[in-house]
Amino acid sequence: MRQRAAFQSRFGFYMAAIGSAVGLGTLWRFPYVTGVNGGGAFVLLYIFFVAAIGLPALICELMLGKLTRFNIVGAFKYKPWVGTEKKWSWFGLLGIIASFVVLSYYTVVSGWVIHFVIQGIMGRFTEPNSQPGNIIDQLTVRGYLQVLLASVHLIITTSIVARGVQNGIEKTSRIFMPILFVIMIFLLVHSLFLPGAPEALRFLFYPDFAKLTGSAVIEALGHALFTLSLGFGAMIAYGSYLRAEVKLPSEAVLVAGIDTVLALCTGVIIFPIVFTAGVDSGTGPALLFKTMPVIFGTLPLGYWVGLAFFVCLYFAALSSSIALFEGLVAYLMDQRNLKRPQAAGVVSGVSFILALISAFSGSSFKNIRIGERGLLEIIDQVIINWMLPVVTLGIILFVATKVPEDVKKKEFVDETSLVTVRLYLTWLSAVKYLVPVLLVILFLVQVIIAFL
Ligand code: TRP
Repeated sequence: MRQRAAFQSRFGFYMAAIGSAVGLGTLWRFPYVTGVNGGGAFVLLYIFFVAAIGLPALICELMLGKLTRFNIVGAFKYKPWVGTEKKWSWFGLLGIIASFVVLSYYTVVSGWVIHFVIQGIMGRFTEPNSQPGNIIDQLTVRGYLQVLLASVHLIITTSIVARGVQNGIEKTSRIFMPILFVIMIFLLVHSLFLPGAPEALRFLFYPDFAKLTGSAVIEALGHALFTLSLGFGAMIAYGSYLRAEVKLPSEAVLVAGIDTVLALCTGVIIFPIVFTAGVDSGTGPALLFKTMPVIFGTLPLGYWVGLAFFVCLYFAALSSSIALFEGLVAYLMDQRNLKRPQAAGVVSGVSFILALISAFSGSSFKNIRIGERGLLEIIDQVIINWMLPVVTLGIILFVATKVPEDVKKKEFVDETSLVTVRLYLTWLSAVKYLVPVLLVILFLVQVIIAFL
């Protein structure tokens, strides 16, 4: 087995893997896509997809990384399993492209969060006559300001990744993830006492399948994959830093579980504000930024809570950006033989250029729209709804057909326990039949909706 840097402790891995999964997808994207897609039924479907597709796929990604000790492209070329077949590595390349594009707009939205941290410091959330939405509406039309903020975020991310796995990723995630949990619990309790809370809970948890459209089903799938950082090779890269003795299923369940719980908590924090302050639930990408400042204005100590919330949101965005970045750096180092600092430089250069597109989507490019959706959202939809399911399918089929049975089994089975054998068999049949079939059907549905 190839030697590779490894996480020092199990806690460090959990925190880094959870730090990758819990990010803007969980805290910013989940509430807004839930709002746009009508609530309850969408949420239920999302949970179903996390459990039925996301979890088995997450185990596949971690396994692929752990066994091959490679990045997404290298893993698909792993000699002992594929010999000289090259065709699998196309999936890997698609994953790399998706990562670059997502990193670019993720960087822009992380820049928004930095802006909110600064606004928080300046006391803008607690100003007496502030309107929900002022700050974000003024920001999205200012392209150059967004470029500046995104650059700050890229510089921070690059300097952490350039220092390497143990020094950078583990330390930062360790400190900030627990603080984020605590603040969220506090805000959750507060939101449950708002007058709009009952309506919000009905909106989120009472499924009205009549409201569910075909495209909402696809979005639920895309989001379930995205929020677990699947289909980008990020979890392959993490798996490759795992020590050999670690068993995968429990790690995967924990990561998926915490991510889902946090997403639901964010919903329970944000939607009571939506219904109390009369914000449109279908607002789109600005939803979190419109709603959150509203509570800080009314809360005792609102100045500090608001500031702490956006600082933590920033760290969640940062740990995910680091993970995305690390997946790309691992690729450039292994496949293109770059040194770590050079690879980090290339990734940040390419992301910067791509980020310009998203940064100007509310100003210079604001006329490029499909229906209600602007350029940033269009990019987001293409990557998440179209590319992710394809790359994920590739990874699953690869693990199902190319990785030898006994090797897979060893990752699950603890000789002394029968439960793990059953678990293994369930996973195996999910990965061989249920998940690929579901993914193919959903993909076809999407093609039909898009082109008919
Ligand atoms: N899961 C992350 C979130 O919820 C977003 C994400 C998608 C990601 N793919 C990734 C993060 C790859 C790191 C690496 O915000």
